[in-house]
Amino acid sequence: MVFLFLPLSFLNFTTKYIIMSLLGKVAYITGGTKGIGYGIAESLLEQGMKVAISGRSQNSVDEALKSFTKENVLGLVSDVSKLEDEVKAVKSILEKWGRLDVVMANAGVGHFAPIDEMSDKDWHQMIDTNLNGVFHTLKASVDALKESEGYYMTLASLAGTNFFATAAGYNATKFGVVGFTQAAMLDLRKYNIKVTTIMPGSVATHFNDHMPSDQDAWKIQPEDIGQLVVDLLKMHPRTLPSKIEVRPTRPDLK
Ligand SMILES: NC(=O)c1ccc[n+]([C@@H]2O[C@H](COP(=O)([O-])OP(=O)(O)OC[C@H]3O[C@@H](n4cnc5c(N)ncnc54)[C@H](OP(=O)(O)O)[C@@H]3O)[C@@H](O)[C@H]2O)c1
Repeated sequence: MVFLFLPLSFLNFTTKYIIMSLLGKVAYITGGTKGIGYGIAESLLEQGMKVAISGRSQNSVDEALKSFTKENVLGLVSDVSKLEDEVKAVKSILEKWGRLDVVMANAGVGHFAPIDEMSDKDWHQMIDTNLNGVFHTLKASVDALKESEGYYMTLASLAGTNFFATAAGYNATKFGVVGFTQAAMLDLRKYNIKVTTIMPGSVATHFNDHMPSDQDAWKIQPEDIGQLVVDLLKMHPRTLPSKIEVRPTRPDLK
């Protein structure tokens, strides 16, 4: 974002206000049809941003579009495991809004089983979505982010630093996402692109075929991650929280 990198000597009250404003900026959230991505989309729309969300089917995208209360949402069918889909999605955003300031590589799936029982199909779906997907999204959007001096974020997980039984496949993808994002941060900061990975613990979503309910009150809620993303986007240009662990305060209440 050009406005994020004004010389510090110009930071009087007015320019500080401009830095804080996200009004009219454009975001792309992969996997924004539900869960965390949807919560982030709502938070960015509240800030006056224009937001594109994606999912794998026209049906899931249409359902999500019906439930947004704000305008300025674009729904895209794109499977992050296919580079050509992501290239097409970014092209559609640029055609519609002419710029891209924030990219959230959020789409992800989880399959959990002891490794000797893990199917080849589930393993490859996780690698293709969670790991290859974040690369495809970056590859498709990095030129636009160079242009806007924007922000690229990934949704990793605490499973990107803590391993546990039944999670060998999921752990492999999320450890990979954390390493990928931190190295990408080192590559891209010279272009004034900020890069961050967010590593949540339990969030109340549809992840792994879960149905959110009142029993999930102890978990992080999707809008809490939305609030975190807004705070990151409003962070002073000179400062970059590049890796963020976020967890429920009271997991003992589960
Ligand atoms: N929930 C948690 O406790 C938790 C904790 C840490 C990290 N995470 C991470 O947070 C991210 C979001 O998960 P969530 O909890 O919000 O799960 P969710 O409620 O199941 O939502 C997943 C989203 O990803 C989309 N998606 C899945 N595969 C896709 C693909 N190949 N291409 C495009 N979109 C795809 C889904 O869209 P369609 O179904 O419409 O295709 C949906 O919008 C994931 O990366 C997950 O690993 C979740």
